[in-house]
Amino acid sequence: MDVEEARRLFDLSGKVAIVTGGSGGLGRAAAAGMAAYGASVVITARRMDALEEAAAEIAGAGGRALPVSCDVTDEESVRAMVRRTLQELGRVDILLTAAGIARRAPAEEMDMADWQQVMDTNVKGTFLCCREAGREMIKRGAGKIITVSSVRGLLGHPLGYAAYGTSKGAVHLLTRQLAVEWAKHGINVNSIAPCIFWTPLTEPVLSDPEAAKIFLDRIPWGRAAVPDDFIGTVVFLASAASRFVTGQIIYVDGGNVAG
Ligand SMILES: NC(=O)c1ccc[n+]([C@@H]2O[C@H](COP(=O)([O-])OP(=O)(O)OC[C@H]3O[C@@H](n4cnc5c(N)ncnc54)[C@H](O)[C@@H]3O)[C@@H](O)[C@H]2O)c1
Repeated sequence: MDVEEARRLFDLSGKVAIVTGGSGGLGRAAAAGMAAYGASVVITARRMDALEEAAAEIAGAGGRALPVSCDVTDEESVRAMVRRTLQELGRVDILLTAAGIARRAPAEEMDMADWQQVMDTNVKGTFLCCREAGREMIKRGAGKIITVSSVRGLLGHPLGYAAYGTSKGAVHLLTRQLAVEWAKHGINVNSIAPCIFWTPLTEPVLSDPEAAKIFLDRIPWGRAAVPDDFIGTVVFLASAASRFVTGQIIYVDGGNVAG
């Protein structure tokens, strides 16, 4: 590899990325990060007003973003979102699945409607997006899929994560499964497993000093992460820099799972 090629390892110019949960804390940061490296980004979630705001921010920074409404739990909605991406931008090179929800409750009190909603969004929703984008990547013989799991997919926690942790453990396995199945199609499939980040999802927990302490005591860096801490790993996994990396769960966690 010559110096010029090495310098371009992280370049995403000409690439098209779909980011689900694109109006949320981590999805929005990931979309902005990939746009900064040259990708055109389709940002999706259900509410158009939030997506339009996120797209305007990316456009304001000189990037290209297309907001598309999509409910990841609805098969037809996911299909329509990928179709729209192809119509408007012609291809899908990268998929990052940041759409996700959490419902916390002590296991003995877990409501099964909540349980199902978590599974539908985090597991079925992730799979549907991977399947639909994956079909397009298979046609091209190349692609980068980045799922978003969690430290909770590896470790139990006292604050009621039976549904959420189970769903994220499933995302870990789904990531490895797709990595093995789709390696022959030139598709890298990896997962980013964050610890606790400041986003709308975690605001209620981090704003409660007692609960926050339970999380922060487990993080050697001693702080919650911020969405910008997510971007470098996203760009790495979306780009040629990670071309021989697949089936990995990368913990962006300030050392949380190290000890
Ligand atoms: N914030 C954290 O500390 C943290 C830690 C570990 C893992 N995660 C995971 O990262 C991902 C993003 O989390 P976040 O903190 O940005 O949360 P967030 O609540 O800020 O954003 C979640 C996004 O998902 C979208 N979404 C939810 N249900 C959807 C559906 N049915 N269809 C389409 N979009 C839907 C929301 O509209 C929003 O855009 C989630 O999968 C979450 O589990 C977050």
